[in-house]
Amino acid sequence: MADSLHLDSKQMKAAESSGTPGSPPEDIDIFDEGVSHVAEKFRGTSADKRDMMVMGKKQVLRRNFNFITMLGFASTCIASWEGILTYLAFVLTDGGTPLLFWGFIACAIGQTLVYASIAEMASMSPTAGGQYHWVSEFAPKRMRKVLSYYSGWLTAIGWQVYNASVCFLVGTMVQGLIVLNDPTYIYKRWHGTLLSMSTTVFCISFNTVFASRLPIIEGMILILHVVGWFAIVITLWVMAPRADAHTALLEFTNNGGWSSDGLSAMIGLLAPMAVLIGYDCSVHMSEEIKDASVTLPRAIMGSVIVNITLVFVIVTTLCFTIGDQASAAASATGYPFIQVFYNATGSLAGTSVLTAIIIVMMAACAVSEVAAASRQVWAFARDGGLPGSVWLSRISPDWNIPLPAVTVTLLVSALISLINIGSTVALNAITSLGAIATLISYFLTIACVLYRRITGPELPPRRWSLGRWGLIINVAALLFLIPLIFFLSWPLTTPVKAINMNWSSTMLGGSLIIATIYFLIWGRTSYVPPVVHVKRDV
Ligand SMILES: *[C@@H]1O[C@H](CO)[C@@H](O)[C@H](O)[C@H]1NC(C)=O
Repeated sequence: MADSLHLDSKQMKAAESSGTPGSPPEDIDIFDEGVSHVAEKFRGTSADKRDMMVMGKKQVLRRNFNFITMLGFASTCIASWEGILTYLAFVLTDGGTPLLFWGFIACAIGQTLVYASIAEMASMSPTAGGQYHWVSEFAPKRMRKVLSYYSGWLTAIGWQVYNASVCFLVGTMVQGLIVLNDPTYIYKRWHGTLLSMSTTVFCISFNTVFASRLPIIEGMILILHVVGWFAIVITLWVMAPRADAHTALLEFTNNGGWSSDGLSAMIGLLAPMAVLIGYDCSVHMSEEIKDASVTLPRAIMGSVIVNITLVFVIVTTLCFTIGDQASAAASATGYPFIQVFYNATGSLAGTSVLTAIIIVMMAACAVSEVAAASRQVWAFARDGGLPGSVWLSRISPDWNIPLPAVTVTLLVSALISLINIGSTVALNAITSLGAIATLISYFLTIACVLYRRITGPELPPRRWSLGRWGLIINVAALLFLIPLIFFLSWPLTTPVKAINMNWSSTMLGGSLIIATIYFLIWGRTSYVPPVVHVKRDV
């Protein structure tokens, strides 16, 4: 014990002295605060301490997640099979059930390659920053700063928006249930917005006062994730009408008015992709995981395999039991899956219970997303990448959580829910904005690690390695991402008017312009790419 404490203080000193010469702003974050507030038992294994020392970071969060609780965290953070139900409207507009089935298989294979690439990097540098940290380590030297800065922003935008989208789903699903149960209710878009904001408020409590209970809650939610899945799969197969295989798997539809079925299918891929994005959530918790350099990659790939399997069964179930697709798409509740449940069960109570399971799971998902999104913002602010970095990188000492970052995350999601008031396709715009920003950040990261793999020097040591398959997996992942990044920003239907336009690329462009302005004025000096602190050779 005494020995390890001794080592610890030596590591601290090493970390402290490293960043100083000629670059004062990088120390704004943590080193000034002196002694760590984190108790020894929450500081992880010796491998964790070594990793933190190599990365030049101080342990300020508690390492209280293990493989199983992390699997639970990741599963709720993605809300995979629950998500595919909520995004059903996208495929019913473009592609139909065959796209849901084949598109999901294709995207699942592609994204597995992407996450394998990411898991390997997570084993090299298990840091809450994730993508932008890896970019800064592996990009060509001259471009390290700029590329990692932008990937930090892209990841931040992706997570912030994803969190907003989940709060939005919860709010509007509650509204959908009201529509179902009360025929006199008059649907107003701003009601959905207010309900989304209430979800945001709900998330505050679980990310502040109950934060230390988060791992336990994740474990319980994991059980509901599985039990709820059985409840819905069994109900649909037993009670819903059955489609024949030809209709379910081969009759592609094109209800978006696009010139070809192929184009329509590419655009509809947003639905299967939406539940295959965000498995980097565990990465942003890496400084809260025990033995992160091996637990983390395992948790990433474990959550990918488990959730792809769960979604695949739901997808197959839906293809055969959805009933009349046009009528599902036109559901007054706003959510085709609620209509499908109602037609299958013929009971308001039954439908409400099944839908409530989805709502609870998505609310749990929102809680996890706030956690992941705030950690990412916090980590990026710690390196000076965001306006207000000094404030944003603060950790509240009593709770060991990044309170300012949590607050900003909640504000952003409340603001984004306002989009719903003026747009009929808010969910589409938010989902694709989150998807594109995150996919570009994956792309940049994998491109950089590929560059390093080819040009050398050799990649850092890792306990979870792709071995000689690394090169081909990285290349295949990149080739898969290119068309998706392009098509996911398209609107679902044509002709396009202001009200049904997918404004995601405009919003992304706008955010990146803000990022650029900040970079030119302050960021150039305040942002210190994490690689500066990394000491691989010591
Ligand atoms: C639900 O049932 C109604 C009435 O039988 C029918 O008109 C509609 O097409 C069905 N919808 C779905 C999604 O199966």
